[in-house]
Amino acid sequence: MSLDQKIAEVLSLLDRVQKDYAPAVFASSFGAEDMVLTHLIAEHYPAIKIFTLDTGRLPEETYKLMQEVSDRYGIRVRAYFPESDAVEAYIARHGPNGFYDSVDLRKTCCHIRKVEPLKRALHGKRAWITGLRSDQAPTRKDLAKSEFDAGNGLQKFNPLLDWSLSDVWAFIRQFDVPYNDLHDKGYSSIGCAPCTRAITPGEDVRAGRWWWEDPEIKECGLHPAKGIKGTKGHYRSTIPIGDDPVIAGQNGHREEHPQGLESREPEWRSEKIAEVE
Ligand code: ADX
Ligand code: SF4
Repeated sequence: MSLDQKIAEVLSLLDRVQKDYAPAVFASSFGAEDMVLTHLIAEHYPAIKIFTLDTGRLPEETYKLMQEVSDRYGIRVRAYFPESDAVEAYIARHGPNGFYDSVDLRKTCCHIRKVEPLKRALHGKRAWITGLRSDQAPTRKDLAKSEFDAGNGLQKFNPLLDWSLSDVWAFIRQFDVPYNDLHDKGYSSIGCAPCTRAITPGEDVRAGRWWWEDPEIKECGLHPAKGIKGTKGHYRSTIPIGDDPVIAGQNGHREEHPQGLESREPEWRSEKIAEVE
């Protein structure tokens, strides 16, 4: 299918969402996929409001893009923040970077900073839209373009599910869509600063996210995977938030993490772009 046909399909889906599922919202992390949808929604479907989950740990480049989106499209993306009490309790017990110490502590941090704010963002809505693509991860292979999100109690639409990374970048170039500067520094996927690194050519597009964890299970809880061990349903930490005995530095080994990560050249992206030329 050509890019034009794929765009036409996305427009028709967004049209249906705007008409039949109001109020509907689009969740943007300001990654490349989300910029494709931001462009289409801002230009054609103003009733679909855009929000972001500002975890408090986002990279500076993401805030810069947030401002650019506002200037270019004349819209304000609504930011949802984590509950300050929960963040304060987590940091008091585990330290500011406790998420490097175990998968449980990482998922607890994601729960506080992303999953709980997402629930507030979706409250009272009939549908939400994401920029998920199937080939991003093994955890995303079985998704559908439209599915009922039982955990959040509303319909979920993934209009770019069958888009390739090349499609995404071809669209961005064709429509001169603003994008995150991190992509030019070798970042293929955009997330929180301490948990995201650049990738090298040949690495999986999500290899830079929580790179110290098993790729088969690494999701943050926003998008629970189906049928994959350890990821069914919504994540529930085994560590009670605010009342756990695990103090940073006392719970065994600490995995290697990104002190002094160097910025890498974005060959992965030029390779992908070359494919569509
Ligand atoms: S994540 O679950 O690993 O963080 P990923 O970064 O691949 O997800 O993004 C997939 C989709 O989830 C995005 O296209 C976007 O719709 C939504 N999403 C992820 N992070 C955020 C965020 N911080 N704010 C809003 N939406 C987000
Ligand atoms: Fe916390 Fe990292 Fe998850 Fe961001 S990605 S919420 S910093 S664990």
